Amino acid sequence: SAAEKGGHEYFMLKEIEEQPDALANTLRGHFESGRIVLDEQRIADQDLRDVDKVFVVACGSAYHSGLVAKYAIEHWCRLPVEVELASEFRYRDPVLDRDTLVVAVSQSGETADTLEAVRHARTQKARVLAVCNTNGAQIPRESDAVLYTHAGPEIGVASTKAFLAQIAANYLVGLALAQARGTKYPDEVAREFSELEAMPAAVHKVLSTVEQVRDLGRRMADSKAVLFLGRHVGFPVALEGALKLKELAYMHAEGFAAGELKHGPIALIEEGLPVVVVMPSPKGRAVLHAKLVSNISEIQARGARTIVIAEEGDDTVRPFADELVEVPAVPTLLQPLVSTVPLQVLAAEIARTRGYDVDKPRNLAKSVTVE
Ligand code: G6P
Repeated sequence: SAAEKGGHEYFMLKEIEEQPDALANTLRGHFESGRIVLDEQRIADQDLRDVDKVFVVACGSAYHSGLVAKYAIEHWCRLPVEVELASEFRYRDPVLDRDTLVVAVSQSGETADTLEAVRHARTQKARVLAVCNTNGAQIPRESDAVLYTHAGPEIGVASTKAFLAQIAANYLVGLALAQARGTKYPDEVAREFSELEAMPAAVHKVLSTVEQVRDLGRRMADSKAVLFLGRHVGFPVALEGALKLKELAYMHAEGFAAGELKHGPIALIEEGLPVVVVMPSPKGRAVLHAKLVSNISEIQARGARTIVIAEEGDDTVRPFADELVEVPAVPTLLQPLVSTVPLQVLAAEIARTRGYDVDKPRNLAKSVTVE
């Protein structure tokens, strides 16, 4: 009913709007007397100190949350982090031992490939920490430790609030590792929790762009294909934006690392092709920002219609943006929490305009319990 959907036509829009709460609830209770505390069933600090390699294994959007986390964990902890699709991890011969930390990220906690990856990691003596949104699900039950995301039940088949909560939880894991092992960047790590705590308000602010983005979505509904470009943490955001569009609008969509543009994707540019560009901060990442501005001018010159997600007050990019969606300025590593939101709304609105069921896209299941 409309009441269950909080007055929205579909659950997904309600769940998009619940993201500030999903983040706040996921962070709650994890910072005490200046220290990060994980859930009760956790890996001991001594074991975290011995970790020499991290794998994040997951599927779908959860996999993208892992790609985001790699940037943060490698930086804070100076530990190698590999992010793997659970279905690939399991059938390779990944190098694991008791000093490997495997983080298995799953909203449902029941995804068959992720569960098999957990089982394989444990037979190799790796320590497994589940990041999960569902209390008592199979993946946390078979893991050494669990960190619950508290996004609340997610009805829409395409993940939204669980995805943002996964990023926050993966960051808590990274901060706990940095705290246990020591870090090259103590000030930054010490600041990070309070920066995370400011994110529900920042995400709330992005929600004020929902109507602008829905309008844009209605105008894009006839597109044949859409490309997404990003760099650094904006790259996994581009992948997630493309995945959402495929899942919901059945539209050809690809995410690319903007630096790869000249190695292929630029050949796809033709008159009127929409290209969504996730911009880094002009202050926080000036060098990358300049490179992206140059990418946008190149694709615009070849006829692309540029849809730019940029930090508020980013005036340099304005002349190159056929459509501009502004998101609040936040620290670079936290940017995916704001820049993903317009991409979720865009995909949902394109799907709705095309007459599709936003909450139950064809051929997809909320949780994939067969390999
Ligand atoms: C399905 C869902 C996605 C989700 C993926 C992984 O494909 O439609 O939204 O990201 O499974 O699910 P999990 O429950 O393991 O996070």
